[in-house]
Amino acid sequence: MNEWNEGYVAEVAYTYGYYAELNPLRMRLPFLNHGLVFPEIKTACELGFGQGVSININAAASNVEWYGTDFNPTQVCFAQQLLNASEARAKLYDDSFLDFCSRTDLPNFDMIALHGIWSWTSDVNKKVIVDFVRRKLNTGGVLYISYNSYPGWAPLVPFRDLMNRHVDIMGAKGQGINRNIHAALDFISQMLTVNPSYTQRYPKLLENFEKIKKQNHHYLAHEYFNRDWDCMTFGQISDYLYEGKLNYACSATYLDHIAEFNLSDEQVAFLAGIPNEGFREDIKDFIVNNNFRRDYWAKGLRVMNQIDRARAIREIFVIMVTPREWVELKVKVPRGEATLAENIYNPLLEALSDHQPIKIGQLEQNLERRGVSFTLIIQALIILCGKGDVMIVQDETITQKSKQYTDKLNLHLMNMARRDEKIKYLASPVISEAVLVNRFQQLFLLARHNGLISQQESVQFAWQHLSASNQRIIKNGVTIESDEDNVAELNLQAKEFFEKRLPILKALQIA
Ligand SMILES: C[S@@+](CC[C@H](N)C(=O)[O-])C[C@H]1O[C@@H](n2cnc3c(N)ncnc32)[C@H](O)[C@@H]1O
Repeated sequence: MNEWNEGYVAEVAYTYGYYAELNPLRMRLPFLNHGLVFPEIKTACELGFGQGVSININAAASNVEWYGTDFNPTQVCFAQQLLNASEARAKLYDDSFLDFCSRTDLPNFDMIALHGIWSWTSDVNKKVIVDFVRRKLNTGGVLYISYNSYPGWAPLVPFRDLMNRHVDIMGAKGQGINRNIHAALDFISQMLTVNPSYTQRYPKLLENFEKIKKQNHHYLAHEYFNRDWDCMTFGQISDYLYEGKLNYACSATYLDHIAEFNLSDEQVAFLAGIPNEGFREDIKDFIVNNNFRRDYWAKGLRVMNQIDRARAIREIFVIMVTPREWVELKVKVPRGEATLAENIYNPLLEALSDHQPIKIGQLEQNLERRGVSFTLIIQALIILCGKGDVMIVQDETITQKSKQYTDKLNLHLMNMARRDEKIKYLASPVISEAVLVNRFQQLFLLARHNGLISQQESVQFAWQHLSASNQRIIKNGVTIESDEDNVAELNLQAKEFFEKRLPILKALQIA
């Protein structure tokens, strides 16, 4: 009998991350920045949704009808529980890609999304996915895809193969994947003590390996220990996606859109001399030593004229989701750390500081007299969205309709926080996206939901849950031992939460 998991790690469950690029609302600014029309997304599909955190939050917080599959039944059970809690409109399957893509009961989609899938699936599955996209993605629709990019990964490929082969050859199935991974990492550590020429040539690998050793084993199992694993150049992936009738639209990573963050003037000029866009992307990956790409591809690109583009941008609403005083005028970028100009960002942040949705057109009017041009505003908003300080806001009627689903989902997530910190997010119907809210903050919110409004009451509530399961707060890697010190720490966190975060969570219609 064929293994249902096709050599994919199924023994340990995947992690519980939310990936913002899967939120259809996010594509608006990058598309418009590239002078492209973004499609209206009514139906969307996620292939390989893992624990289903992204698909569930996206389904609850928007009017998009989501479909998705993941062949790991344990993960599908978890994802389905979230869906049952929110009662949002989504359909989750435990089909393999092959079975799902052959279904005859699926609609056509405006968006198909796969995050963390392409590099970890077989060539047969890659072709199944491309064929699915060709048949089921509407014209004008978008494929979001992420994958390991060859230039950045190249030196690590033999290294990953060694770890994987150690598990295959030296590992014992009965030991379980965790122990086998441990053994493989121990073996590699020993191998490195003999100072191989390979690591002398690529010393950065030693740094990479130190990071790998510290990573969560569930993540490692899925990242490095599947049967199928590859990385591709942009040209290689273009050849596959051409068969799906797709054109490259733009990067889904906002900060990629700011050339000077990634490239020197000389490099920009060199790339400008390359007439073919695909080849330019290949060269860019080589220049920046890219190891992971997150991209939008479209089935038919619709180019906009400048006037329509500007009009569409002016119509977008945005909201600031970080307290003003926490927004740093610095950003880590591939070329180091960039400093953001105070004369542009201070007035912009001031205009956003009430944490209410505001139209970009309105921001333009406010900032005109401060000498900040429309072009600079767009660039600044792309950067602030890329940093996570500003978010795009969805249509108010959709927010109103979605709130019933996000409220139910958030209550379920906050109740989960009574036990542990599996999911560090809550869903906002305003930005149709997840917002980072840690376990203690979720417990403070749950206390409020239960009528315990004061800071003191919410701290007591959170502490009851921690102490009942004999848990302690870990701060900067150190466990706080005594009850008094734990409560004091919770008080500190609650004070900051009530003063700084709660007003924003209210604006995002989470609290
Ligand atoms: C690296 S995880 C990524 C999960 C999710 N997209 C995320 O980013 O959180 C890959 C997921 O794809 C699923 N998967 C792998 N191969 C599959 C296949 N052939 N059919 C269906 N699901 C598959 C796995 O069970 C796993 O949950």
